[in-house]
Amino acid sequence: MADDGQDSKVQDAAEESMPRRVFFAAGAGLVGACYAGAIGYPVYRFLSTPAHKSAAEEAALREVSFSADKLPAPGTAYLFKFGSHNAILIRLEDSSLVCFDRTCTHLGCTVEFQPKEKRIHCACHGGVYDMNTGKNVSGPPPKPLKQYRVEVTADGQVVISRA
Ligand code: FES
Repeated sequence: MADDGQDSKVQDAAEESMPRRVFFAAGAGLVGACYAGAIGYPVYRFLSTPAHKSAAEEAALREVSFSADKLPAPGTAYLFKFGSHNAILIRLEDSSLVCFDRTCTHLGCTVEFQPKEKRIHCACHGGVYDMNTGKNVSGPPPKPLKQYRVEVTADGQVVISRA
C-alpha cells in the first residue's frame, strides 16, 4: 500500500514535470531559432545581394544630375546620392559649388556639413575636413574626402561627375 502511494507520487511528479520539460524544450527551441535567425539573416542578405553586379554598376555610374532648382543657398548644402554613396553639394559664400563624397576616409562613417563651424565633421572620431577643399585638417582621417566635379548646364541641370 505504501509502495502504491510512493509510486503514484513519483508518477504525479513525472506528470507535473512533463509540462515543465515541454516548456524548457520549447524555450530552448525558440532561443535556438533566434540565434539561427540572427546568424542566418545577415548571411542570407550577403549571399542574396548581387555584390559583383552592384560594384560593376557602381563603377559604370559616371555622373548624376538634377534640376538646378535644388541648388543650395550660399553657405548651405544639398545632400543626395551618387549611386549608393552619400554625397554633399556645398554652395560656398562666394556662390561657387563644391561636391564631396560623404564617406569619411578614416573608417567610413558619414560626415556632416556644419555651416556654423564652416567645416565638414565626422562625429565618429572627431575628424574635420575643410569645407572648401575636402582636405582633412584634424583628427584621424588620413586623406581628403573624395571630390566630385560640378557643372551647371545652360538647360538648368546640375551635373555631378567623378573627378
Ligand atoms: Fe570619421 Fe573615424 S570614421 S573620423
